[in-house]
Amino acid sequence: MQPQVNNYQPSFNPTSMPNNSEMMIPLEVETTSIANNRATSAVADRTDTGSDGVFLTWEDLWVTVSDGRKSSRPILQGLTGYARPGELLAIMGPSGCGKSTLLDALAGRLDSNTRQNGDILINGRKQTLAYGTSAYVTQDDLLITTLTVREAVYYSAQLQLPNSMSMSEKRERAEMIIRDMGLQDSVNTRIGGWGVKGLSGGQKRRVSICIEILTGPKLLFLDEPTSGLDSAASYYVMSRIAGQKEGRTIIASIHQPSSEVFGLFTNLFLLSSGRTVYFGPAGAANEFFALNGFPCPMLQNPSDHFLKTINKDFDQDIEQGLRNKKPTEEVINTLVKSYQSSTSYQDIQRQVAQISKQEGEVLEKNRSHASFLTQCIVLTRRSFVNMFRDLGYYWLRLAIYVTLAFGLGTIFYNVGSSYGSIQARGSMLMFVASFLTFMTIGGFPSFVEDMKVFERERLNGHYSSGAFVIANALSAMPYLIVVSLIPGAITYYLTGLQQGFEHFMYFASVLFTCMMLVESLMMIVAGIVPNFLMGIILGAGIQGLMILGGGFFRLPKDLPKPFWRYPLYDITFHKYAYQGLFKNEFIGLVFPGDEARGPKILKGEDVLRNMYQVEFGYSKWVNLAILLGMVFLYRLLFFVIVTSVEKVKPAIRAFMSVPPKQTKQVMMNPSTTPEHKEPSIV
Ligand SMILES: Nc1ncnc2c1ncn2[C@@H]1O[C@H](COP(=O)(O)OP(=O)(O)OP(=O)(O)O)[C@@H](O)[C@H]1O
Ligand SMILES: [Mg+2]
Repeated sequence: MQPQVNNYQPSFNPTSMPNNSEMMIPLEVETTSIANNRATSAVADRTDTGSDGVFLTWEDLWVTVSDGRKSSRPILQGLTGYARPGELLAIMGPSGCGKSTLLDALAGRLDSNTRQNGDILINGRKQTLAYGTSAYVTQDDLLITTLTVREAVYYSAQLQLPNSMSMSEKRERAEMIIRDMGLQDSVNTRIGGWGVKGLSGGQKRRVSICIEILTGPKLLFLDEPTSGLDSAASYYVMSRIAGQKEGRTIIASIHQPSSEVFGLFTNLFLLSSGRTVYFGPAGAANEFFALNGFPCPMLQNPSDHFLKTINKDFDQDIEQGLRNKKPTEEVINTLVKSYQSSTSYQDIQRQVAQISKQEGEVLEKNRSHASFLTQCIVLTRRSFVNMFRDLGYYWLRLAIYVTLAFGLGTIFYNVGSSYGSIQARGSMLMFVASFLTFMTIGGFPSFVEDMKVFERERLNGHYSSGAFVIANALSAMPYLIVVSLIPGAITYYLTGLQQGFEHFMYFASVLFTCMMLVESLMMIVAGIVPNFLMGIILGAGIQGLMILGGGFFRLPKDLPKPFWRYPLYDITFHKYAYQGLFKNEFIGLVFPGDEARGPKILKGEDVLRNMYQVEFGYSKWVNLAILLGMVFLYRLLFFVIVTSVEKVKPAIRAFMSVPPKQTKQVMMNPSTTPEHKEPSIV
């Protein structure tokens, strides 16, 4: 079906023009930009969703946030608009007016403390957008800081582009995008972050854009793609993005577009305190402001003029300087009212209704990406490189472990085989199994960074959660082997534990498995609480309980039955680690008995049975197998948590979006939206 093409002429209601002396200022309107945009807006009235692109509409969209008491604060107030294929919609407005919130709402990524009402339709259908249906460059850059620009984009290309493309084609695409974003001179610079200086803010921004536009998504959201860029870079970046708009729907929030950048926009959505000041062809905005008595002064950038007119954050300062100036709140109200009574507004509502009526294609989940195996391999490699370069991930831990190993080795140096050595051996093994592994918590900040990047990439549908969980475990293994072998050998041989290479290997294997377990546990925690301070406290708390219930500080028979004995003792991995290590150490050794009482000779088995109450029905290898099984279970649980978060979050959001009638109205400024139906905020 051919799209209908009309000549779109925005028109405004002259009666809404204020009777104000400001109106008398001669009107100087930037005519060339209007002419350009008029031409673009000639494609208006395309409402046929049967075509390949994405038609996005939102109608009477409200987003509110609870302010801690019983009432809530509206962030977006009854917004209506649309975005169509082949168009670039720019969202503008003062800082804090709700641009990011609008993008989050449209992309289905609002915070859980917000409530959303109103219809957001994709090709006339209700559809959850996150997890692969759209690409979103968020306001914050969440990148792997240790990678160089080239590596970051290459890895992303390998993950996102389909297997049908050869490796060299993928590289070529990555190189082209890097050049497009003007990053060719910094390809080998590390991204940097967290005290390690790397790329500049504007360069990071462009890396984030590169990664999202690699596959040419049909629906692209960009939150301030030009922040941190100079005006020339902004223009080039925006013109590359606008150059991709054929057949694609692009929505970008933007702060300070130069007039050249402004000329690239098809439509403009101007917001102030969550209300629509203007929605329509970008070029006609000037006329709208002029007709309402706020013409753009000559030689002034129209976007600067719009923002200056509707920014009320600094009214107090202005009051001091310009006593005669109209309060901005009033100006905004005038513009909002004027917009709502304009035929342009009705026209937009009509178009939204028309697009919504046509049920078009369901937007497919991500764009074909690499096969599962390729994803696993690429993610493992990327994660391995990251762990190698991030000093805090393993190297610092290795240094601390070596120091502690020397500490343990000197405290228990050459422990001997006296009666007293029984206690020493037991304490030393307990320390290794609980406290050495406990310090794996130190890597938590790095896990949290990994999780943030994972969440972003997952929301944009770069790869599957399964591939991430597998890659995360595989890439950590070589480091954990080193971290358990070197400090393990120092401790083992300085202390003089039971001789025999097999005994040492068992000891190191248990240490390795316990570290894997604690890492898996901390990844689970990072999946639930992505805040690193809270995560460390929670992780430490869980491990503290497990150590207490492991059967060393209180022998198994003395543990209180509820909770500690059943079920904690049986499910804590410390029990299996202690008992495996004890069996490995004591079986085969003989100690002299306690001189004062008891038998003359104590066999290792007796020590285990009587002093440590070790369970005997199975060998030490079964203990190790149970520990390995637990690693698998913990990883499985991690996978279940990350996948269920994907399912649960949209469900919670749907639940939180209460239909208007069930709620009562609380508005910050009720007089400001006279035409609006009852808003719906609890
Ligand atoms: N989850 C939230 N909880 C509480 N307040 C929120 C939340 N999200 C947004 N807000 C509030 O809503 C308002 C709009 O925020 P938003 O981030 O959308 O602004 P913005 O227009 O993107 O600003 P900027 O240009 O500075 O990025 C702000 O006052 C912000 O504090
Ligand atoms: Mg923002």
